Amino acid sequence: MSTGGSCRKLSAAVVFASRFGTTEVVARAFERGLKEAGVETFCARTSEFPPQTLGNYDLICLGGPTEVFTATKQVKDFLNAMGGASMEGRFGFAFDTKLDSRMSGSAAKYIEHALDDRGLHMIAERESAIVTSRKEGGRIVGAVLRDGEESRFEQLGARVGRATEDALERIEGGVQRQA
Ligand SMILES: Cc1cc2nc3c(=O)[nH]c(=O)nc-3n(C[C@H](O)[C@H](O)[C@H](O)COP(=O)(O)O)c2cc1C
Repeated sequence: MSTGGSCRKLSAAVVFASRFGTTEVVARAFERGLKEAGVETFCARTSEFPPQTLGNYDLICLGGPTEVFTATKQVKDFLNAMGGASMEGRFGFAFDTKLDSRMSGSAAKYIEHALDDRGLHMIAERESAIVTSRKEGGRIVGAVLRDGEESRFEQLGARVGRATEDALERIEGGVQRQA
């Protein structure tokens, strides 16, 4: 792998699941931030992203809504489709949307562990965007993203992009020094 400073641009996959659309808004904001940092990106839903192409990316970012305290079936299916293939040498980042409650659980926590198990190095700690739920007859029928979360995730994307560039440059510098 090499970075924009040397041969080619760093590349990142931003993969997400979203029932009501707020995680998609957050994922696309995060992708914009990565682009601002000069990263080449591909952003798609878990159902539209071919997991066998993950090996093409330096940085893999995966997010989804927190439901019943954890990640949804779409996200878990995607992680299973990644199989046991080692992603060693690549970077990862986990995010989610969830309610502002100490009892909310976190999809990102599940995702972070799963990516870590596959050998990805987490470039930053997982991050959650806060939503409020819209209910009808006791059932959750929608979600609204809290003000400021979209721009926070755009800034976060830029920060994660720069951190990944720096980490890769340090690794390459080390390899060159050893050679
Ligand atoms: C069936 C269901 C279960 C949910 N369970 C939780 C939960 O355990 N913790 C939580 O913080 N939010 C929970 N929520 C709210 C979701 O986190 C919220 O709908 C989601 O973040 C919105 O993301 P989306 O717009 O991408 O679907 C639940 C929502 C649904 C529909």
